[in-house]
Amino acid sequence: MQFAATFGYLHKIASYTFNSIVIYAWRQLIERPPTTNSDNPFIPLPVMAKTGKNISKAIQILESGGLVAIPTETVYGLAANAFNPDAVARIFEVKNRPWFDPLIVHCSGLAETEHIVKEIPKLARSLAEKFWPGPLTMLMNKQDNISDLVTAGMQKVAIRVPDHPLTRTLLKSLDFPLVAPSANPFGYVSPTTAQHVNQQLGDHIDYILDGGECHIGIESTIVGFDNDTTVVYRLGGLEPESIESITGKIVLRPHSASNPIAPGMLESHYAPGKRIILGNVDELLKKHDADKTGIIRFKPQADKKTSGKEMYLSVTGDLREAAKNLFSVLRKMDTMDVEVILAEKVPEEGLGLAINDRLKRAAGKRM
Ligand code: TXA
Ligand code: MG
Repeated sequence: MQFAATFGYLHKIASYTFNSIVIYAWRQLIERPPTTNSDNPFIPLPVMAKTGKNISKAIQILESGGLVAIPTETVYGLAANAFNPDAVARIFEVKNRPWFDPLIVHCSGLAETEHIVKEIPKLARSLAEKFWPGPLTMLMNKQDNISDLVTAGMQKVAIRVPDHPLTRTLLKSLDFPLVAPSANPFGYVSPTTAQHVNQQLGDHIDYILDGGECHIGIESTIVGFDNDTTVVYRLGGLEPESIESITGKIVLRPHSASNPIAPGMLESHYAPGKRIILGNVDELLKKHDADKTGIIRFKPQADKKTSGKEMYLSVTGDLREAAKNLFSVLRKMDTMDVEVILAEKVPEEGLGLAINDRLKRAAGKRM
């Protein structure tokens, strides 16, 4: 009797171990991405996109009209062949993005942009020589090989050369450029890791090229040219001061509700699911229940006690670090047990301008 019970028990352990090994091996084989339950690899995961560093696989998918999430130095992009209208259309569907919102075209270098623009303005050339590859997107007159779908009917196409080793290799291997909006559902916070992409779009895309955490963390700065004037349409990963050092005085036209040339300029964008209120956090806190309130500060305050639901953009008070952490912090806050998020602005200089712009829009009126 006792022998039978012991045998049954041992049999159960053996079959559980065997099953676990099979599940684990299967998961390794299909390159499952690391997920939130990676501490227990035996818990079944929902179906998600395959994730890995396989450039050949990304090439093959893109050549056959599929979608691949790609790492860049700013945020992850959702890429497709810019010359394939069906693939471009799928990007709009997957992101639930309005058709009036044009896409940035990503090229491997300045020379490659010559095939898709009518001419490269002198200022654009000087900026490209200094900042490409890097977090700078430039608007230039398009050639006919760039469809109206990509530019939402506008004559100018937005172009950038991203700076990430995997994506640079990928672009150099392809004989077409890639359209790539940020790889998030329209209006939501941009992804800065492969896991972020997987959590939100994983079941809609064919492959995620995992290049680790994006080192800049906010989207590229978008500029255009008005004769000899450089106009900044979206504040981003390249500081206005750096652009001015090459072009001379610039004009900032980052937001115009009457003329949302780019929906990244709409009043509500980059928004997490929870309500965000921007202002003096300590004043705002007096009107909210501390237990149900999340707080985002630029850096730790020596004289203030923390509520446990408080996060900092930068422990050292560094704007680059704050930019890099911004979207992850917003995402983390979104998953915390809070009803509202109070956030404070960062210093209004350098990358701080772009960070405050994102915070304002994250707190903006929902569409
Ligand atoms: O850093 C970045 O720029 C990232 C990475 C993936 O490259 N991409 C990105 O794309 O932020 P997206 O689509 O999330 O934002 C691009 C912004 C949109 O607000 C869009 O309206 C604007 O660029 N845009 C694109 N093409 C444009 C055009 N032809 N004229 C004016 N604005 C344009
Ligand atoms: Mg975006």
